[in-house]
Amino acid sequence: MAKTKTAFFCQNCGTQYAKWIGQCTSCKQWNTIVEEIVQKEEKKTWKTSSSTLQKASKPLRVNEINSDKEIRFNTQDIEFNRVLGGGLVPGSLTLLGGEPGIGKSTLLLQIALKLPYKTLYVSGEESQKQIKMRAERIHPSSENCFILTETKTQNIFQQIVALEPDLVVIDSIQTLHSDYIESAAGSISQIRECTAELIKFAKESNTPVILVGHITKDGTIAGPKILEHMVDTVLQFEGDQNYVYRILRSLKNRFGSTAELGIYEMQGSGLREVNNPSEVLISKNDENLSGAAVAATVEGIRPLLIEIQALVSTAVYGTPQRSATGFNAKRLNMLLAVLEKRAGFKLAAKDVFLNITGGISVDDPAIDLAVIASILSSNFDTPIPKGVCFAAEVGLSGEIRTVQRTDQRILEAEKLGFTSIYVSKNNKITLKDTKIKVRLVSKIEDVVSTLFK
Ligand code: TYD
Ligand code: MG
Repeated sequence: MAKTKTAFFCQNCGTQYAKWIGQCTSCKQWNTIVEEIVQKEEKKTWKTSSSTLQKASKPLRVNEINSDKEIRFNTQDIEFNRVLGGGLVPGSLTLLGGEPGIGKSTLLLQIALKLPYKTLYVSGEESQKQIKMRAERIHPSSENCFILTETKTQNIFQQIVALEPDLVVIDSIQTLHSDYIESAAGSISQIRECTAELIKFAKESNTPVILVGHITKDGTIAGPKILEHMVDTVLQFEGDQNYVYRILRSLKNRFGSTAELGIYEMQGSGLREVNNPSEVLISKNDENLSGAAVAATVEGIRPLLIEIQALVSTAVYGTPQRSATGFNAKRLNMLLAVLEKRAGFKLAAKDVFLNITGGISVDDPAIDLAVIASILSSNFDTPIPKGVCFAAEVGLSGEIRTVQRTDQRILEAEKLGFTSIYVSKNNKITLKDTKIKVRLVSKIEDVVSTLFK
């Protein structure tokens, strides 16, 4: 009988200990150390024979390396391709994380169903019938998508060898278990082992693999941080469950930029790609309401116009409330302090609520000016005229600062029918013959004097 060996692992960061301790010395979390059975045995991986045949690699000069343009695997989903940086790279491992119920399984099943290649969708969470029901809602017929409900990696590899799929989807990594490790599925050592086996499979067979990963309460992918180091690409699917829009971001990408963003709309028949997000994110309200301002942002290289709504009211309680949805609350406090100190607006006794429509969150500093404009508009109860938008950062001394890709923002605003855009005076605008009026401002007062006379 094989000798059973146990070790202690921190369930938060994956650090291994020889004995139990109360606090992890590495990540400082309490009560996260759990004993797991680790069985050491001669390992057979997905193909026992191939590993022994591997040649040791030799160093090559950079210019000797074959640089044939990498062929990407087109997923037939424009948004998904964009976030990946042009499609899946053969032999790569992609991890898709997100809250339960956000639509991870839907997204991957949808991609698997639409692909003209042979795809194996392995589910450890739902039965074949359940997946079939979901598939019928999304895409009723597909010849190339195979569904397997299995959680043991060795059995999965057996099926892979028989089927030879072009793409493998695993839903989810936390449900897999390998025979070579004795601890329960979802434990640190199982996740690490199963991922390692899948990486070996992906690299040796040049097949792309997509993994679904659960996330924990605090929003990080469940399992050791090492999981994120092991895979090539980490994608995050996020959004507010109460809204229909879902955003796909890349947190790590060995083959492309992490600034790209994909937007989907959850419908009754699956996820719809939103190719022109600016139009859906701006509310089509004909009445001019106070407290709303439009910001011309850029996510990745993609211009995106979003609406910001603010509500400023007299504080009922002693301490005024400040809350922001989709925007950094610290940044909101900073902008309020700038308004108070540099522009002389008395907001200290006011509650300020800020919301970005569509349930999305934005990090682009260029929305600062729109945030300030919406707060002032609500404070004066004066609507901002229709057709006005903003693209500038606001500094601590109240100065209006330049942002990158201003030209692109101006063009997008013009395309959507905006008539004027406020940008920093320091911008070097090279655009000619634009119909949109570009207003160059350097201080908050310049904006106030033209908007709220
Ligand atoms: P799911 O993909 O199961 O989420 P995850 O795998 O991330 O846990 O998504 C489930 C939600 O999506 C569920 O609340 C219902 C909704 N949904 C639709 O609105 N339309 C659809 O066509 C499908 C398949 C799901
Ligand atoms: Mg799921």
